Amino acid sequence: MTKQTTYQPCDLVIYGALGDLSKRKLLISLYRLEKHGLIEADTRIIGVDRLDETSQGFIDIAQKSLQAFLGNEIDDAIWQRFSRRLSYLQIDLTRLEQYQQLNAVIDRAKRIMVNYFAVSPLLFKNICHGLQGCGVLNGESRMVMEKPIGHDLQSSREINDVVASVFQERQVFRIDHYLGKETVLNLLALRFANSIFTTNWNHDTIDHIQITVGEDIGIEGRWDYFDQSGQLRDMLQNHLLQILTFVAMEPPADLSAASIRAEKIKVLKALRPITLRNVDEKTVRGQYTTGFIKGSAVPGYLEEDGANPGSSTETFVAIRVDIDNWRWAGVPFYMRTGKRMPGKRTEIVVNFKQLPHNIFKDSFPDLPANKLVIHLQPNEGIDIMMLNKVPGIDGNIKLQQTKLDLSFYEAFKKNLIFGGYEKLILEAMRGNPTLFLSREEIEQAWTWVDSIQDAWANNHTPPRPYPAGNWGPVASVALLARDNRAWEE
Ligand code: BG6
Repeated sequence: MTKQTTYQPCDLVIYGALGDLSKRKLLISLYRLEKHGLIEADTRIIGVDRLDETSQGFIDIAQKSLQAFLGNEIDDAIWQRFSRRLSYLQIDLTRLEQYQQLNAVIDRAKRIMVNYFAVSPLLFKNICHGLQGCGVLNGESRMVMEKPIGHDLQSSREINDVVASVFQERQVFRIDHYLGKETVLNLLALRFANSIFTTNWNHDTIDHIQITVGEDIGIEGRWDYFDQSGQLRDMLQNHLLQILTFVAMEPPADLSAASIRAEKIKVLKALRPITLRNVDEKTVRGQYTTGFIKGSAVPGYLEEDGANPGSSTETFVAIRVDIDNWRWAGVPFYMRTGKRMPGKRTEIVVNFKQLPHNIFKDSFPDLPANKLVIHLQPNEGIDIMMLNKVPGIDGNIKLQQTKLDLSFYEAFKKNLIFGGYEKLILEAMRGNPTLFLSREEIEQAWTWVDSIQDAWANNHTPPRPYPAGNWGPVASVALLARDNRAWEE
């Protein structure tokens, strides 16, 4: 199937082409785009890594990865077309002179050079200088980079400064793969295309909002990276704050990147700081211990391969966030995210206010408030919890809480749901910045997160243990119980 594509052909250069991200995500997503005719016919994919490999060797590696992840989804004719796009260059990214090889390959007259940095941020500076030094870039070239963009405000500024010395902001595409998820983008549609929500989305009607991003996996052999990072930096600074900005922002003037980013930044600026003074009351840190996931025993964080048994890095965090603006005054957002939770679950629960007066008190003394539950993954969909009369003629009006539920899978069976990476790689090739993060957003998010991280470092409170297979430590329940609320379970 070949569709008409409407963007200019690219030379997509993947630095770190033999690494995990490239093999597990990028090549697979590119193959899927190929399958659906979404890659421009003249686009080429150039793998760059420091290992001694040939283009044929790279093609074989790509094929093995695809077989491992896609199995019989691979179609021979599509693979042939895809593999013809692939080639390989051996470049030691720390050696400036080796970047010259790119000049022999890149075709600036016909194609836009899209540089995908799928390597450790420690190499970003080398790549930027290498690309600048060899003169292969022009004003059309782009760069795509992923988190972690630094581990705090200062280190993220350093990375952004180096990038800015070579690329203009309009050429930079910073990925948060949650922004490629259909259900995250659907928040825009839900909020700004449906009048029942546009008019009921503020402190008048909403009591509080919960955001949960739980995973049953542990750290998956990434001890070195994760232990330096922790759940606050690995998940909350980016994915959860991105979800929060979509839930909390004011209506943007239009769907342009500039309008959406401007509204997101306003939310980030309005987050009430968490400091040493209130960190114990507003946050809970946890670390998993041995436990069970789906019936199987799993080791605790400190027993993972390569672990430093003295580590006090958190694998769980729960936070009460207050947004100091007109819309959200008095409406707390509770966010929690953790590894080794009972299951994979990403959801937003909007809890509406209780009614001021209950005329059904004889049959239903505690009228539960309405709830909107947005399931981001898995089982993408939306539920509204509401009260209805139970049918019957016994003289009393009996109420029961029932669910209006929309399953995306059922409703959009005919539409393919692409993964985050497919969408984001395609948008980067198309040159559409809407789903990418601006420098200001990232730095604003770090400013808020750094204050929490500093407060934790200064009060020396160790993370609270929780057995793997639980929704975090008991203190997380207490965080809401103090406000007479409870997590949605
Ligand atoms: C990554 C984190 O950004 O997101 C991982 O580094 C985490 O620790 C992953 O497992 C979760 O992504 P998803 O799409 O599976 O929810």
